[in-house]
Amino acid sequence: MMVQSPDQRTLSAALLVEQGNPADDPRMFRRCLSQYGTGVAILTTADGADRSAVTVNSFSSLSLDPPLLLWSIDKKSRSFPAFSTCKYFAVNILSSEQIELSRHFSSKVVDKFESVEWAAGRFESPLLAGCIAHFECSVDARHEGGDHMILIGHVKQLARFEGIPLIFSQGQYNIPCEHPDVPAEPEAIADARPDTPSNNVLQQIFNAHHSLSEAFEEHRRAEGVSVAVARVLASVCSYPGIKADGIASQTYLGQRDVEDAVSELAKKSLLTRADNGGMQLTEAGLALREAIRERWIAFQDAQLEGVPSPEIAVVMRTLSRLIGRTRKQEGNATVAVDGG
Ligand SMILES: Cc1cc2nc3c(=O)[nH]c(=O)nc-3n(C[C@H](O)[C@H](O)[C@H](O)COP(=O)(O)O)c2cc1C
Repeated sequence: MMVQSPDQRTLSAALLVEQGNPADDPRMFRRCLSQYGTGVAILTTADGADRSAVTVNSFSSLSLDPPLLLWSIDKKSRSFPAFSTCKYFAVNILSSEQIELSRHFSSKVVDKFESVEWAAGRFESPLLAGCIAHFECSVDARHEGGDHMILIGHVKQLARFEGIPLIFSQGQYNIPCEHPDVPAEPEAIADARPDTPSNNVLQQIFNAHHSLSEAFEEHRRAEGVSVAVARVLASVCSYPGIKADGIASQTYLGQRDVEDAVSELAKKSLLTRADNGGMQLTEAGLALREAIRERWIAFQDAQLEGVPSPEIAVVMRTLSRLIGRTRKQEGNATVAVDGG
């Protein structure tokens, strides 16, 4: 049943930010539209040596049979004359690594193709390198759409490439991230600690650190070192001349553990200590440190295999933020010490 003049505050539990008639506030119209996340595409067409291209997010699928898609172009854009008469166009779907390309093709650059890698498609329309899908279309229909023109394309040829889509939502570029409510891969569920509530982020970081450290243990053992020794090696390698108290604060080891590890390393001629307490790795110490580092890199690659790179980037950003905050609070600096 239609309700006259609904008070939107009663319609949803979400907090109302704005409402009204778009005719009174076109920006609000844009902001409301931007709540609908889209991908980003570059539409291209060519007429001999005249090539046109424009970045769009109005692209949408339309029909499976026949295979149709649509998008709309601003009648004020420089590319409008070309797209309002062309017989063919191509849709280039951008990957998460192509923000610069999106900016480039939405800019006022005179020759948009000059500095870009591309090849002519079956119907001459440029196909851009690095995209995650190409659709080569003949123009099926054009429709008026206010200040835009709607183009419907009949897909004649397509291609899909490996990669992750670039997303545009709420007025900015985003990367898709698996929703936490989507069940993780079965092995991840089986391995997750069941006693960790999903909002206990710090506990989960702690769990991940410990299970990875445990898993790396066999590699440390193969090099004949303990966690403490590996950390001290890494610390002295990064900061030659460092003293025991500096190592302790960098490695999160207790003073006594540091002293034990230092004695062990010195006994094996892997480390020397100067009269002022400053430490250096010997040739053999440096070689051991390098061997552990190589194992660590290979271990990390194996652990992260199959995890999408945007997901890793998001985790890294969150962890860096957490480290930055705690450092600011504590007013002391620590360094990352790999080796588990
Ligand atoms: C994410 C994004 C989405 C866009 N979507 C559209 C669109 O759907 N249609 C359109 O005409 N312009 C769109 N634009 C704006 C055009 O890319 C921009 O106006 C461009 O400068 C037009 O190029 P031209 O003047 O060389 O034709 C979009 C821009 C961005 C950054």
